[in-house]
Amino acid sequence: MERAQETGNMGDRTGTKTRSGSDELIFFVNGKKIVEKNPDPEMTLLTYLRRKLGLTGTKLGCAEGGCGACTVMLSRYQTHTKQLLHYAINACLAPLCSLHLVAVTTVEGIGSVARKLHPVQERIAKAHGSQCGFCTPGIVMSMYALLRNNPTPMMADMEEAFQGNLCRCTGYRPILEGYKTFTVEGGCCGGRGQKNGCCMSNVNGAQNGSEEQINEATSLFNPTEFAPFDPTQEVIFPPELMTLSKDRKPHSLCFHGERMTWLQPDSLDEFLNLKWKHPDARVVVGNTEVGVEVKFKNMVYPVILAPTFIPELSAVTHTEDGIVFGAACTLSHMAVVLRQAVESLPPHKTEVFLAVLEQLRWFAGVQIRNVAAVGGNIMTASPISDLNPVFMAAGCKLTLVDKDGSREVQMDDGFFTGYRRTALRPQQILLSIHIPYSKKTQFVSAYKQSPRREDDISIVTAAMSVTFTPGTDVVENLRLSFGGMAPTTVLAKKTANRLIGRPWGEELLEEACNSMAEEMSLDPSVPGGMVTYRRTLTLSLFYKFYLTVLQKLRLQGLKVAEVTSVCLSATEVHHPETPSSVQIYQAVAKGQNQDDVVGRPIMHLSAMKQATGEAVYCDDVPLYENELYLSLITSSKAHARILSIDTSGAERCPGVVCFLFADDIPGSNTAGSLKFDETVLADGEVTCVGHIIGAVVAKTQLQAQRAAKAVRIEYEERQPVITIQEAIATQSFYQPIRTIQKGDLELGFKHADHILEGEMHIGGQEHFYLETNVTLAVPRGEDGEMELFVSTQAPTHTQSLVAMALGVPANRVVVRVKRMGGGFGGKESRTTLLSTVVAVAANKLKRPVRCMLDRDEDMLITGGRHPFYGKYKVGFLNSGRVVALDVTYYGNAGNSMDLSQAIVERALFHMENSYRVPNIRGRGFLCRTNLPSNTAFRGFGGPQGMMVAESWMTDVAQSLGKSPEEVRRLNLYMKGDSTPFNQVLDQITLDRCWDECMSRSGYQQRRIAIDLYNRQNRWTKRGIAVVPTKFGISFTALFLNQAGALVHIYTDGSVLLTHGGTEMGQGLHTKMVQVASRVLGIPSSKIHISETSTNTVPNTSATAASASSDLNGAALKNACEILLKRLEPFKAKNPNGTWEDWVKAAYFDRVSLSANGFYKTPDIGYDFETNSGRAFSYFSYGVACSEVEIDCLTGSHKNLSTTIVMDVGNSLNPAIDIGQVEGAFMQGLGLFTLEELHYSPQGVLLTRGPGSYKIPAFGDIPTQLTVSLLRDAPNDKAIFASKAVGEPPLFLASSVFYAIKDAISAARAESGITGPFRLDSPASAERIRNACSDRFTKLCPLAEAGTFIPWSVQV
Ligand SMILES: Cc1cc2nc3c(=O)[nH]c(=O)nc-3n(C[C@H](O)[C@H](O)[C@H](O)COP(=O)(O)OP(=O)(O)OC[C@H]3O[C@@H](n4cnc5c(N)ncnc54)[C@H](O)[C@@H]3O)c2cc1C
Ligand code: FES
Ligand code: FES
Repeated sequence: MERAQETGNMGDRTGTKTRSGSDELIFFVNGKKIVEKNPDPEMTLLTYLRRKLGLTGTKLGCAEGGCGACTVMLSRYQTHTKQLLHYAINACLAPLCSLHLVAVTTVEGIGSVARKLHPVQERIAKAHGSQCGFCTPGIVMSMYALLRNNPTPMMADMEEAFQGNLCRCTGYRPILEGYKTFTVEGGCCGGRGQKNGCCMSNVNGAQNGSEEQINEATSLFNPTEFAPFDPTQEVIFPPELMTLSKDRKPHSLCFHGERMTWLQPDSLDEFLNLKWKHPDARVVVGNTEVGVEVKFKNMVYPVILAPTFIPELSAVTHTEDGIVFGAACTLSHMAVVLRQAVESLPPHKTEVFLAVLEQLRWFAGVQIRNVAAVGGNIMTASPISDLNPVFMAAGCKLTLVDKDGSREVQMDDGFFTGYRRTALRPQQILLSIHIPYSKKTQFVSAYKQSPRREDDISIVTAAMSVTFTPGTDVVENLRLSFGGMAPTTVLAKKTANRLIGRPWGEELLEEACNSMAEEMSLDPSVPGGMVTYRRTLTLSLFYKFYLTVLQKLRLQGLKVAEVTSVCLSATEVHHPETPSSVQIYQAVAKGQNQDDVVGRPIMHLSAMKQATGEAVYCDDVPLYENELYLSLITSSKAHARILSIDTSGAERCPGVVCFLFADDIPGSNTAGSLKFDETVLADGEVTCVGHIIGAVVAKTQLQAQRAAKAVRIEYEERQPVITIQEAIATQSFYQPIRTIQKGDLELGFKHADHILEGEMHIGGQEHFYLETNVTLAVPRGEDGEMELFVSTQAPTHTQSLVAMALGVPANRVVVRVKRMGGGFGGKESRTTLLSTVVAVAANKLKRPVRCMLDRDEDMLITGGRHPFYGKYKVGFLNSGRVVALDVTYYGNAGNSMDLSQAIVERALFHMENSYRVPNIRGRGFLCRTNLPSNTAFRGFGGPQGMMVAESWMTDVAQSLGKSPEEVRRLNLYMKGDSTPFNQVLDQITLDRCWDECMSRSGYQQRRIAIDLYNRQNRWTKRGIAVVPTKFGISFTALFLNQAGALVHIYTDGSVLLTHGGTEMGQGLHTKMVQVASRVLGIPSSKIHISETSTNTVPNTSATAASASSDLNGAALKNACEILLKRLEPFKAKNPNGTWEDWVKAAYFDRVSLSANGFYKTPDIGYDFETNSGRAFSYFSYGVACSEVEIDCLTGSHKNLSTTIVMDVGNSLNPAIDIGQVEGAFMQGLGLFTLEELHYSPQGVLLTRGPGSYKIPAFGDIPTQLTVSLLRDAPNDKAIFASKAVGEPPLFLASSVFYAIKDAISAARAESGITGPFRLDSPASAERIRNACSDRFTKLCPLAEAGTFIPWSVQV
């Protein structure tokens, strides 16, 4: 491979003279000029901002352009148009060297808490659009960039601007709600706020007038408080940069790095000369492909050629027969030009342009489209490129040039010569692409099918173009182009040839489908899997095209078959509708003191800092002077003995300081959660891919990561167990196997009118907290003391394991947690995998050591939600009443116990969901497999337990031909019933939630409308489902139900709270301040929480089980009451004094103004042996009704509406609680309808980043979303009559899954299939399409299981 050193004589204007040094890179950041003398071509803008400039507001979430956390705005002056351009980009993919004469604006540059918040920052904060806040700066910058270009955007513009941003906490609704206030639509529900009226007319917690709804409030923020947005006040483009840009003389640039040289030629000639000289050089425009290859595929490109300065490559030329785009034209620019053309040209000329625009609409996110070039897409030659099929179907022409001249080639299947290969010679470059006008008799359509609509990579992408003999319906020319069906984009030539000369009718369709089913076949082991689905899609998409063309021919007056109204919806192109929402909660009682903030929707205390980027996360802690970086060495085998570890190659890598293996651990190498069945570093054996074997410590992150990859390990492989089915077959289980049994099962089944059996698999889920795992360990230099900054939900657990590994008592280790960028259970126990290793390294080197896992490492190593398989037998009466249930659960625990025992137990505790089943038995098996240990995840096994319950409930209804809602209502628990674990349900509100949900959602009317819709539409179907939930609140491990708090009052009257809970976005600290404020009777502004640390409140339980407000709130209350009591005499002495007076008086009287509080949940403790004792302190209840529409031909679905009624007791903070409900719901929506982890049969996780693993995006919110917190439902078991809220609402998203199942049933009925059927979770597009059995699916049967090795397996 060409080495960087050998490239030192390049970069002058001719490419022949010598130039050894680097040029100066000049750019501006937040108005400040930066002259970088030695910019490293391998450095991204993000690393530069965070590490060199200390601007840590811009976050790292994925490093692959998939999350938007790193969004910043670039501005540049374009000399040829004399225009200033502002555009959002992903800093994680932007090479630093690409920024010459560019102005960068980061979140810090637009506002701050001390200075003044920018309205974009203020509104997201005040509208409760920030929970953990890790995504917030990126979202702020996307909105800011939009407003810089368009101060009065439409809602649709805003939704487009957010296509490239993800948030895992909020559920997106509040962000849109807050930012709606910038749009033309005017910050309003658009009049669709149902009977509660318009959201904006009900500001400030306004109460409805009617008697019965007297306490109902419907607004969570007051938009009249927002500072006005004045676009004229924006930061100006740096005048000096303007001058530099205008005066720029032709001048090429050259930057040398350790391994890479960046050449930015100034003319086409120079560019071609350089390419001639360095045929292996990469041409980089957007770096959205190359950046990902370098970061994740270990590619090293010694020479980069950046053509940004070359006008020919960015030129757009209108010709007689089309438009020529220079290869470096960005996709955003291309879209603008095409849209203008569509507006100005006659419609028949723009069929191709419209097809390109349709693909661009769903192409990545705005940040990518703003930098990615059309040439980059073509030249990457990806088989799932979205544009190449259109270009091929349309017959686009490419101009290729090299030093010796140019040639024009047709873009057809001869151009793509293999997987990511083209016919281009190495010395050639792509100069431009010619996109032709369409002909009068030509019709073109493009289709993209991906797991998620927005910003996703295609499963199958297609473009079809047909030209008819003028005046007829006879096919003259047909080009059918597909991506995702072969290693390259392909044309279905055989099929097309067969159809030429044929009239456009049913016979042609029949022939096309038969022929395409044969031609577009796939090997059953093909990478990407989904073989039946992908094959079916080619037919389904052709059918859509067929119908669309029929319609167009008829419009031209030709006598072709009419597209009947029932088929019309198959031709509709999906464009999202603007969502609307309503939130309802109980207003505080009239007369509640203004200073008493309990029950009020106050903003998350960190929201403002999160919106300005000032909130400090673990990796934002400034670098210590002598700090080092650690990278993990992990196993590539699922089960193996380690034969040898060779570090010699890695030792030669620059910057390496040391290696760590099991022998380096001074204390114990034992680790784990409840059971200590793990090692800190592997000791001879590895039991999963991603098992941590060792670590490398180096001077920088890049050096450590490079060295870790250079370590060679030899293994002796052993047979792994990967799937639940393999574990069952080999009886690979952890002990004990739990059973909960009540009633007489045998008798129950005997009395049943019907007995039904079924099964279901529920896939796992990645936490995808936006902030990955991170630890900074700082040795204190004496007595073995170590201070750790960790993003963890479990400081005490971290402290214990670090102390064990270091061989020191726990009192030498301090763990500090300021805040996390999301946790969701993923940081409850698995964070110690990293923190122990980092601590061992810091201890060994006596220097601070840091590591933040890359997204792919985090996903690979830390496990997720347990996949579950459930088998059931259910007995029921003709009425639908369930009388007996025997259910068995198998959870895929992975390679260690971790918390799996408690997780399977919780699945059992929720096996009947909300239904009374008199005779019941549930058994729970923990499968020991060679996957990374699965762990806690919001709901903790409960959702899986309940999901299976809803499956048998649906089966019962379907087999009786009744509506599932009728059967659910019939079986719903009533007051006084007792659970299978013999807990009597006393304060039950299920029926109230159910009835309110039914009426608010308008279920009955919806059902009628859906039935009508389904009769009128063959290829789209609608479905509805109402699902209840009951969630037990308490840790099931008794000892964890305790909490401590420490409250200091300082002599100035300010109060510092510390408690055992950690802040991960859920608003715990905010609620705790509200609690203390009420108890102490002082305004919340006097109270502060700084962090959670093990040296202030010891022996804490992890922040988990939704119980943190209950436990810590009660402990704080206890501490505050102690202090109040101490202040009592001083109040009595000076009743008219102030808080400060009493505090001072107490101090001078030598009274301690610091107190500990403690709380343990009373009256709980369950015994599996005797099936007795209280398992839970109380239950949280909720009900949701969801309506969906599925596209039977593609399997996509739209979330039309969801209505949630949730009992959270007397809400401590309705804004935070509604945020939890919506966030949990959206996470559940991901779990049950979207998120799929793919593992190879050898146990390798194939989905390791946002590119391949899709969490819900902005566009997945239900179009109508109503969340109502049940009023008048105080709970006497928790602080101020509140209830836990973090986990319970998650399961309500299963209403979407069962609505989908309802819609599929309607589709199946069209094919004559009725009765119960198995639908595994998630209800992905693939599963939906395959379940909608029809004439197309029949042509693409599944290969027989066992006859091939699949690409991925259901674990
Ligand atoms: C988050 C994300 C989402 C994405 N979504 C999609 C999507 O929805 N659909 C889709 O199709 N793709 C998608 N991509 C892929 C990628 O964005 C596109 O392929 C993009 O068009 C590449 O352009 P670029 O300028 O960034 O390429 P670069 O990374 O700069 O270059 C890519 C390759 O093209 C070569 N090249 C570029 N220009 C020339 C030239 N003029 N002559 C010769 N060779 C050249 C380079 O040498 C390099 O090998 C996505 C990528 C990311 C990171
Ligand atoms: S960190 Fe850049 S997009 Fe995720
Ligand atoms: S607030 Fe968006 S990821 Fe946490």
